[in-house]
Amino acid sequence: MERIQKLISRAGAASRREAERMILAGRVTLNGVAVTELGVQADAADEIAIDGVAININQAKRYFLLNKPKGYLSTVKDDRGRKTVVDLLPEVTEYIYPIGRLDYDTEGLLLLTNDGDLMNGLLHPRYEINKIYLAKVYGKVQPDQLKVLRSGVNLEDGLTAPAAVRLMDYNEQADWSKVKITIHEGRNRQVRRMFAAVGHEVMALKRIGFAGLTLTGVPRGNYRELTVDEVAKLKEIAGKPGKQYE
Ligand code: URA
Repeated sequence: MERIQKLISRAGAASRREAERMILAGRVTLNGVAVTELGVQADAADEIAIDGVAININQAKRYFLLNKPKGYLSTVKDDRGRKTVVDLLPEVTEYIYPIGRLDYDTEGLLLLTNDGDLMNGLLHPRYEINKIYLAKVYGKVQPDQLKVLRSGVNLEDGLTAPAAVRLMDYNEQADWSKVKITIHEGRNRQVRRMFAAVGHEVMALKRIGFAGLTLTGVPRGNYRELTVDEVAKLKEIAGKPGKQYE
């Protein structure tokens, strides 16, 4: 037996958070009876429906790697009708959602899946998943600033964890620096805020690596399905599938 919100997310019908909201809004039924509390449990033999439509708990899992361009929201739907990353995978019929977020103006590697267990595992801070970014910033980043970025930056939500940071390029004429930075936290606008805190506004930001995966062979705006081996490796990194991370 498992909580209904977990079964819904496993079925790929919504993320676990969205499922909780749906339950509280009275949109979910268990064997025809409305469920409005979050603690109710069920199993694969039960019929769970959202807005009267039964979900398929054993739906096949799909895993995609997207090279997100700027100008797309990392959500499934936007109330204001803006483009979302899901619009970039029009052939995919399953209800997939992004694993984590890239800002509207950030480009690069984003995974999408309907596997709620893997998503929750990869997002849990305990697993310290590496995220590698290339940041182009105004001005010349000085060695002492690189040191601060490496050892921890004091942001309003606390000190950042140690990061790997390397100055890749400095363009003297245009006065910008390119810096490769690897972090494993996933705070809101973290890289932009880290650079701002040491006095360098980010001009452009691209995620080039996530959990050992790269953008190789995937041009901007395109995507590919992960291989069986890649999925197996992600599951290994994210702990045992099916484990609770609450
Ligand atoms: N850090 C940011 O500032 N933005 C992102 O999109 C990702 C990491």
